[in-house]
Amino acid sequence: MKHLLSAADLDRAAAVHVLDTAAEMAATQAREIKKLPTLRGRTVVNLFFEDSTRTRISFETAAKRLSADVINFSAKGSSVSKGESLKDTALTLQAMGADGIVVRHHASGAPHLLATAGWVDASVVNAGDGTHQHPTQALLDAFTIRRHLAGRGAAGAGASLDARSGVGLDLAGLHVAVVGDVLHSRVARSNVQLLTTLGARVTLVAPPTLVPVGVETWPCAVSYDLDATLADSPDAVMMLRVQRERMSAAGGGFFPSPLEYSRLFGLDARRLATLSDHAIVMHPGPMNRGLEISAEAADSARSVIVEQVANGVAVRMAVLYLTLATKES
Ligand code: CP
Repeated sequence: MKHLLSAADLDRAAAVHVLDTAAEMAATQAREIKKLPTLRGRTVVNLFFEDSTRTRISFETAAKRLSADVINFSAKGSSVSKGESLKDTALTLQAMGADGIVVRHHASGAPHLLATAGWVDASVVNAGDGTHQHPTQALLDAFTIRRHLAGRGAAGAGASLDARSGVGLDLAGLHVAVVGDVLHSRVARSNVQLLTTLGARVTLVAPPTLVPVGVETWPCAVSYDLDATLADSPDAVMMLRVQRERMSAAGGGFFPSPLEYSRLFGLDARRLATLSDHAIVMHPGPMNRGLEISAEAADSARSVIVEQVANGVAVRMAVLYLTLATKES
């Protein structure tokens, strides 16, 4: 795998391979082998044109745990603010010998352009582009679901377990509800693709104003009724952040109102109490507490939100290893 640009790049075998590799990385960390020599001599550039806490820090941690040299580049405070183009920024990174470029950009398609325009030889990993894709978020979400739930799905019970380790191989038959601002969510797009590739059934739940045009062609169900979807016993409920900054940038307001939104689409204590005993609560972060998720839900025993962040390091170690370790120096 030279690049990772989209969850659609991964067929079932490739996705399972990344998740298995991430499990091996997590096992080394659990054994307190904090640093592996795998990427010694390689340079990874974190090229972030949009703000990030979790993704940027976990890619940096992952690269350092694989012994790579890391350069953090933030558009704020760089020559991008003087008008420098993506092409000239890329040529600069190429001149500095970047082997891997982890890119987050507000424009959908920017990582694809970087990977295919011929400006750099480096591997390109998409760390979130516009409303398009966030493949490593989907991988860490699948990794987290697998750790908690693989083999529980109606269609996959037992059959999808590895005979030696008992670890689930895929998410066959699991039901995942993805709830909230689907319109602006690269996390939703990536998760629908990856989770269905791995055999899960996905239901998107959103107000009609926050559902993208063409969603009927996606491989999932769509509902406008959160309570009805929760009555269908999802194994995982993934709450999405309401992206108010993208609504303002598009000249739109928040509709429905925040109060209506949290009443109709928020995960609160009442809805939390209706979930199956084994169901988990997820959120990619950052959260709007009190809007899409209440403090009771975010901090409950069902919540795996902090674990998602921790799993992000192992998953990103796996992605950097699989894209960079086999490259010639
Ligand atoms: N989930 C996620 O992408 O978070 P950050 O924006 O903090 O990286």
